Amino acid sequence: MLSLRRRLWQAAAASLSRRCLSVRIINERNIELQPAAAAAAEERLIFPGVWLRDNCQCAKCFHANSQSRQHDWDKFDTQVRPLQLQLNAEQQQLQVRWSDEHESSYGLSWLRERSFEPQAQREYLQRDYRPAMRLWAGAQFEQVAQRFDYARVMSEDAALQQWLQALAVYGVALLHGAPLDAGVVRRLAERVGFIRRTSYGEEFVVQAKPGAQNYAYLSTPLPLHTDLPYYEYKPSVNILHCVVQTASSGGSNLLVDAFHIAERLRQEQREHFERLCSIAVNWNDIGSEAGQQFHNIWRQPVICRDADGAYTRINHSVPQRDSHFTVPLEQVQPWYESYAKFVRLARQDAHSFKLQPGDVLSFNNLRLLHGRTGYDDTEQNSRYIVGAYMDWDIIYSRLRVLKRQQ
Ligand code: OGA
Ligand code: ZN
Ligand code: ZN
Repeated sequence: MLSLRRRLWQAAAASLSRRCLSVRIINERNIELQPAAAAAAEERLIFPGVWLRDNCQCAKCFHANSQSRQHDWDKFDTQVRPLQLQLNAEQQQLQVRWSDEHESSYGLSWLRERSFEPQAQREYLQRDYRPAMRLWAGAQFEQVAQRFDYARVMSEDAALQQWLQALAVYGVALLHGAPLDAGVVRRLAERVGFIRRTSYGEEFVVQAKPGAQNYAYLSTPLPLHTDLPYYEYKPSVNILHCVVQTASSGGSNLLVDAFHIAERLRQEQREHFERLCSIAVNWNDIGSEAGQQFHNIWRQPVICRDADGAYTRINHSVPQRDSHFTVPLEQVQPWYESYAKFVRLARQDAHSFKLQPGDVLSFNNLRLLHGRTGYDDTEQNSRYIVGAYMDWDIIYSRLRVLKRQQ
């Protein structure tokens, strides 16, 4: 079934073709679709010739079954020019004859969906690439942390989509009503795609274990952290399923939106912020699991951003920071001052809540810090949490497919 959005696009394209009285070559290279004189100026669409030629949809240039470009780029002429244009209103097609003697035709709706207008490009990125994140302070937790019914997420695509969308936008979402068996996290991850495996296996049990080799497997408080900062390709999303909660007063989870904390630091204490963005820290983990020894190290600053300045990842773990600090001597003290500021700001903003059996907490491990208060197990009551990870590649892909099917 066609999505409403797609139908709207088609209607817009059809009306474009009716109003599109002319098409012309501009600057010898580009193609302009011009609506009727009376139509609004912003509907003038300009397409670079080199991009159009590169995206020719004919069977020689494009392999429709795999949705893949297949023309020979060794021979591609980046100086290619359109020589002749024809607008076929009936078929809603633009036909182009090129200087390399090739001929192409493009559907008007296809063209309109690929408009180079900045607003249209922004809409495409938010709709099809990734929804915009909404950052939050700890006091807003109850409004931003949406709750979904486990059974509905497992059986209804609309509920699955709502859960994943909330997770993408807010970095946290809760499910309730899950059965109390150890297979829940696997079934959930497989409902989305598949589990991300790490040194700790696929699903893992967080429980106070005698002789624990992992800091999380104690019943002591677990200070705010991200999981596996010592991986280059860090797992994106944690799923924690509460099977047994402690009857003691502890065992609560803490969460904080560290992108929000980073942004506060950027605005309020720029020097500390810049330092945490630029000084690489050695995150490490040495141990063994299921008879396999491992020694992981990944060097990266605490706050990571992309070329546009958008936050991409936060690294923070007190236990998993290497005692080798391979920076110039004079950077050490300033880095500690900045890190302490960040950690304390995060701690002050953290929201605390206690999961109940059947709750599943999911959160963005690249963005949020999480922790746990200490607790006491007894013989009759030992806290039992099953965890697993998923990756954003798999989640966003699933979300795009769900949106297209809407
Ligand atoms: C962990 C962790 C949270 C909990 O194992 O890394 O954060 O609730 N556990 O025990
Ligand atoms: Zn072609
Ligand atoms: Zn953790």
